[in-house]
Amino acid sequence: MFSKLEGAVTAGMIHLGDQLGLYTALKEAGQPITTAELAERTNLVERWVREWAHNQAAAKLVSVDEGGRFGLTPEAAVVFATPDHPSYGMGMFHRLPQTMHALEDVRESFRTGVGHDYDSHGPQGAVGIERSFEPWSNANLLPTVLPAVEGVVARLTAGAKVVDIGCGAGSAVLLMAKAFPHSSFHGYDISQYALARAALKLEDSGLHNAAFDDPRVSPLPADQSVDFITTFDCIHDMTHPTDMMKAIRQAIKPDGVWLLVDIKALDSFEENARKNPMASLMYGISVLSCMSSALSEADGEGLGTLGLSEATARRMTEAAGFTRFRKLDVEHSVNAFYEVRP
Ligand SMILES: C[S@@+](CC[C@H](N)C(=O)[O-])C[C@H]1O[C@@H](n2cnc3c(N)ncnc32)[C@H](O)[C@@H]1O
Repeated sequence: MFSKLEGAVTAGMIHLGDQLGLYTALKEAGQPITTAELAERTNLVERWVREWAHNQAAAKLVSVDEGGRFGLTPEAAVVFATPDHPSYGMGMFHRLPQTMHALEDVRESFRTGVGHDYDSHGPQGAVGIERSFEPWSNANLLPTVLPAVEGVVARLTAGAKVVDIGCGAGSAVLLMAKAFPHSSFHGYDISQYALARAALKLEDSGLHNAAFDDPRVSPLPADQSVDFITTFDCIHDMTHPTDMMKAIRQAIKPDGVWLLVDIKALDSFEENARKNPMASLMYGISVLSCMSSALSEADGEGLGTLGLSEATARRMTEAAGFTRFRKLDVEHSVNAFYEVRP
């Protein structure tokens, strides 16, 4: 039991190391340094830095040599301090305080049944999601994922109408909009914090072929006009995924394609618990974030983090009027990728 508490507290220390620039300073030092040097490089007080470094070294996240100098292995430097690397891991730790703050809110949810949407995690919650998903997406979406979906790259190159639902801060939309200037991209999300970040990033990008909206204000087109629809890690978070799948079916062209990316869940609790080493983490995140979001309206379906297995996705998409479903050969530690067609 105390090993779980150790993990939770050390996770908090990882959050601090990220926010205070301690990992970046260790990486930039290029060689092991004392806590006095680390404190000087970060403008922090040595006594506090020393206690933090001792936590990190005791947890074997930061290395320590016989002279009491602390450093990052090349692997640790990637995970802790290289934001543009696909294995960068600070996103979920960025939003750790917001995620844990949900403990205050969800006690009542256990009584009422009603959860809280992503905006209950505040603006930093949206930044944490952005930092969690962007590094892998930046490295893999264009070279690996899109080519795996039959015919999509040619279609996007020629000029296609594209919709990304649950777009978060718009990373995937902006990446694709830049790569395919003849296509138009529309991102939809219900998080006002995420939409605000997406709008800022759009302005910075100077792109004119992308837009972002809240689907409750500007609904998805219902005229079978969209060539390519993407949903990255969001269907299981939605209060009404069944309705959303029907809306996707109404939006998509008869020869259009939907790239459905969602958590690699297995069909039963027993299988998840036995085969997925991250199962307990995922069921916990579900209570604090995913299922809470999926129950944030009284009649929410509440799929939750491990609620959309391949079999469930197949059944639900079929019920929404899709006839073709293919699992793509894309390697990802947490996600599964499906090509779904009318
Ligand atoms: C885990 S985040 C993924 C964000 C983004 N796709 C990414 O990969 O960074 C899930 C997102 O789904 C959004 N969401 C939840 N319900 C939604 C709905 N009904 N319509 C659109 N977006 C929704 C949330 O606000 C949140 O931004």
